[in-house]
Amino acid sequence: MLLQILGTAAGGGVPQWNCACPGCAGARSHPERRRRHASAAIRAGDRWFVINATPDIADQVEFCGTPVPGSRDTPLAGVILTDAELDHTLGLARLREASSVDVIATPAVTGALCDRLRMNDVLSPYTRLTWHELPEDRPVRLGGSVTVRAVRVSGKRPRYAADADAGGAWSVALVLADGDRTAIYAPCLADWPPSLDSVFAMADCVIIDGTFWDDDEPRRMGISEKTATQMGHLPITWTAGPLSRLPARRRLYTHLNNTNPLVDPTAPAHASLAALGIEVAPDRTVIEL
Ligand code: MLT
Ligand code: MN
Ligand code: ZN
Repeated sequence: MLLQILGTAAGGGVPQWNCACPGCAGARSHPERRRRHASAAIRAGDRWFVINATPDIADQVEFCGTPVPGSRDTPLAGVILTDAELDHTLGLARLREASSVDVIATPAVTGALCDRLRMNDVLSPYTRLTWHELPEDRPVRLGGSVTVRAVRVSGKRPRYAADADAGGAWSVALVLADGDRTAIYAPCLADWPPSLDSVFAMADCVIIDGTFWDDDEPRRMGISEKTATQMGHLPITWTAGPLSRLPARRRLYTHLNNTNPLVDPTAPAHASLAALGIEVAPDRTVIEL
């Protein structure tokens, strides 16, 4: 299995355009600290599926390869969505130069994008979005020996769909398999029910939500009245223990918010995670399993 981490920041990236907090200021003065929106790509046969369509997608997919000269063919086979959040879906509009775009998503996510954001209607003069169901009950084949299935994580809805029925598969972990290798990608963990433990335990690589370091961080940093958990992101101080106990060969955090101390590579928090065998994924990490 070949995975590329194309970005590792929460919504807005690092730095955020209108923020001068220590993390954002640090990323301006040290460009190597900049992080693009969280995204990854998995190779399936000779093409790539990108996980989540961020506002940075057009730059991010170049890491998988560049267009074939004389054609509009690219190494991009399609997009898989973990949720309907704006930071994970606005990039669909950036792919409008393609004649069509294949999108794999759960019914709740597809419904939000089509009915609330009206993506099909808005984009139809430019490109055709072709929707495929991301199932929870069976793996779907992407290409070669690579499959994906969804494991429901929570009913966390995007703010623009806050009144929608919470019963659907709004936020899922992706179980990516290639032969006998398995990786989990879950950039939004609002909950870690016991049922997730057995799913995570069979993976060779687990990549999860590292938005906030501790539960009070969003309030302390003045970005929200809510705690991390109330915002739908379990903090690292909560998930690091269970993550470190998983048998996976690699355990990584992604989707770092600009307020997270980990955006500063000199922060002591890095050493405490390293001691637990946990990595903080830099952009462009290549994972071969
Ligand atoms: C999230 O990860 O919780 C969302 O991106 C937040 C948001 O869009 O406001
Ligand atoms: Mn997000
Ligand atoms: Zn900031």
